[in-house]
Amino acid sequence: MKFEKEINRRKTFAIISHPDAGKTTLTEKLLLFGGAIQVAGAVKSNKIKKHATSDFMEIERQRGISVATSVMTFEYKDTLINLLDTPGHKDFAEDTYRTLTAVDSVILVIDSVNGVEAQTRRLMEVCRMRDTPVIVFINKMDRDGKNRFDLLEEIEKELHISLHPMTWPINSGKEFKGVYNIDNKSLRLFTASTKAEEDDVIGISDLNDATLDAMVGDRDAAQLREDVELIDGVYGELKVDDYLSGRIAPVFFGSAVNNFGVKEMLDTFIRIAPVPRSRETSKRTVDVGEDQFSGFIFKIHANLDPKHRDRIAFMRVCSGRFERNKYYHHVRLDRDVRFSNPYSFMARSKDIIDDAYAGDVVGLFDTGNFKIGDTLTEGEDFYFSGIPTFSPEIFKELVNKDPMKTKQLEKGVSQLTDEGVAQLFTQFGGNKKIIGCVGELQFEVIQYRLLQEYGAAAEFRPLPFYKACWLTSEDPKKLDDFLRFKQQNSAEDKDGHPVYLAQSEWFLNTEITNNPDIKFHFTSEIH
Ligand code: G4P
Repeated sequence: MKFEKEINRRKTFAIISHPDAGKTTLTEKLLLFGGAIQVAGAVKSNKIKKHATSDFMEIERQRGISVATSVMTFEYKDTLINLLDTPGHKDFAEDTYRTLTAVDSVILVIDSVNGVEAQTRRLMEVCRMRDTPVIVFINKMDRDGKNRFDLLEEIEKELHISLHPMTWPINSGKEFKGVYNIDNKSLRLFTASTKAEEDDVIGISDLNDATLDAMVGDRDAAQLREDVELIDGVYGELKVDDYLSGRIAPVFFGSAVNNFGVKEMLDTFIRIAPVPRSRETSKRTVDVGEDQFSGFIFKIHANLDPKHRDRIAFMRVCSGRFERNKYYHHVRLDRDVRFSNPYSFMARSKDIIDDAYAGDVVGLFDTGNFKIGDTLTEGEDFYFSGIPTFSPEIFKELVNKDPMKTKQLEKGVSQLTDEGVAQLFTQFGGNKKIIGCVGELQFEVIQYRLLQEYGAAAEFRPLPFYKACWLTSEDPKKLDDFLRFKQQNSAEDKDGHPVYLAQSEWFLNTEITNNPDIKFHFTSEIH
């Protein structure tokens, strides 16, 4: 394999969580370990100052919501780590879902007080679609959280995944004393703002050793012995293959804000997390080790610099080597394109790069040539599979408020939907334009951007739909009849695929039962 060395030292992942569980804090600690930032607080302050560097919208600044997905690259113990950030706000969840198609594994942060929350469930569903390997970090152990065993049971039951504790906490909240590393039999005692140096760790080769009692007290030492015996009995040794196939998730306990328990997780992460792997395409499996370059666009970020109306398309390299100034084949446009300023992203800045390898994410300057899911190759025609579109949850009719600006509106809507900001459906017969989003906030963003960037005034009128289902059938006539008969609820998506818009679960189930020859899909492959 020509680029074996480069590929095997890369780990590309995302941190996912329900908002407020501690994703930003954990990100910051990982960057500190990687030396990508020097001071705690840098990521937070970056958040506040964002309009100066990466903020692309007034709205984002006003609301302080991180809308965009960014990439942070850093090295830790010879491993090159690409951390893909995802928006925490639930209204931008689809962005997160798409980012998950570009990673090889995830770290899931769970708040020990709140346990599994709404967003945790949905994100895990997306991970399961691709069998993405998951490491769980149970955060905020310095707060009075749920009972540990109950929490593990809750996570297993709610997220349909088997867990494997790698560290075990001694108490929680005010009584939190530290974590015992089950794997390498060592103890790290908790102090707030732990620097997590090697020498803070106490090796405990035998849990019956009296040093343990001296360290944490008789009662807690006895409890730890009991817990660890139970865990050993139930879980045994971690089978890394089960983690890699997404069946088992190793679990770590800690406190991100105190940088406690993070290093244990990071060390295990670089040891077991998957390196970039081969990927399926519309034609064949693309082997990660192939000499020829291939990659796909999973995210488009508009107006990174508010002074310029440009876009950056984020491309995940899937095989070979990507090189600056070299011509590549844009499969959908059937055209050769080259990039003179491809970016890579460090924690706080973006740098022009000369080349990139499988697992890397490259930012490509785009003047409107890219759509989510676009593939670049060295000449071959194929698309990477498994980049799904999910059903929106809120549907509104697009109303043009300025007939003089119809063209601008159409262009704006077309470009924004290419970026994946929203989905566009056109009703059959009626020709009504319907915009589908995951959250209300997205409609505000669209309205704002249509006006600011395209000079088009639009309004939205609520529609009573709750889900879009993509329809397929072996029998084209049956599908045609259905679409004609259900005209009010039928539309086509941007690529011309037929869609049924359901008012409620009851209607949807009724149609599914009444039309056994038609398949109702809750997601659609982009290609
Ligand atoms: P998010 O990106 O997942 O939304 O969460 P974020 O890291 O912003 O953390 C949410 C809040 O939880 C922050 O508090 C953060 O300081 C706190 N937090 C993170 N890790 C821990 C932990 O281990 N223990 C405790 N007790 N708190 C933790 P905030 O009040 O919203 O912000 P700040 O003013 O503290 O920065």
